[in-house]
Amino acid sequence: MTYEFLWFEGLPFPVWGYNIEDIKETCTKFVIKDEDTIIVTYPKSGTRWLREILCLIHSKGYTKWIQSVPIWKCSSWLETRQGCKFLNESERQRLLTSHLPFHLFPKSLFTSKAKVVYIMRNPKDVLVSGYYLWTTLKLTKKPESFKQYFKWFIQGNVPYGSWFEHIHGWMSMRDRENVLLLSYEDLQKDPRSTIEKICQFVGKKLNPEELDSVLENSSFHVMKQNKMSNYEILPENLITKHVSMTRKGICGDWKNHFTVAQAETFHKVYQEKMAGFPKDLFPWE
Ligand code: A3P
Repeated sequence: MTYEFLWFEGLPFPVWGYNIEDIKETCTKFVIKDEDTIIVTYPKSGTRWLREILCLIHSKGYTKWIQSVPIWKCSSWLETRQGCKFLNESERQRLLTSHLPFHLFPKSLFTSKAKVVYIMRNPKDVLVSGYYLWTTLKLTKKPESFKQYFKWFIQGNVPYGSWFEHIHGWMSMRDRENVLLLSYEDLQKDPRSTIEKICQFVGKKLNPEELDSVLENSSFHVMKQNKMSNYEILPENLITKHVSMTRKGICGDWKNHFTVAQAETFHKVYQEKMAGFPKDLFPWE
């Protein structure tokens, strides 16, 4: 079966698990509460990694929750009906996840004190990671080749639209007190300090053993074994067996995939679209 995209307000969404009415309802009516913590990412930027870290911080390093409950229940998708249902049923403090671009995000956020953690990643690695996911996940339109996916990504014809627009929108919030901006690259380089920063931001004090547990249990090799976060428990009609949400987990994999011409094209587009930002805001070259 071939899937296309689901379109809402000019933005492509995956087909499975989504419908226009739910997305519309979330974007226009969802009420964000002051005590919510919201993970916002462009797909393939380290969403599950950050979710695992925040869940572990919330449970003070105890692993029972993340090892017994699917990650999409621990921290549910705002833009899906199922996700909203889990959020409304949750008896814990809510931990929301969303890939929505800034302009579609529920407006109740802007009058709330909810905490937003936005993680960004080198868009070239996002592109490569997305290529592997969308070619193997049976949720959406599939590219026939890397070359084709490269073109779609530059045009913003991929789930959740343009990376450039996503980052532009959310960067406008970066100086707000209730927004923490992180990068996949910094999390790789110094996970302990980044996790400490997150703890401070969400107001959770962890002792050194608890912090060690968060660090260990959110590491790539442990997450790869955790069926609740690596999507191994998704039914086979949605995911091919060999796809893993924890694929390589490295920085710079784009160098193994881009041709010289693609690297030049990307560089040119990047320079044009990101011209207004200070260079040192982003930790990639
Ligand atoms: P790769 O495909 O480059 O390996 P998302 O969760 O937003 O879909 O992002 C997926 C990317 O995050 C994948 O990148 C995945 O391997 C990486 N990732 C997931 N858990 C990780 C971890 N604990 N450490 C490092 N990278 C991780």
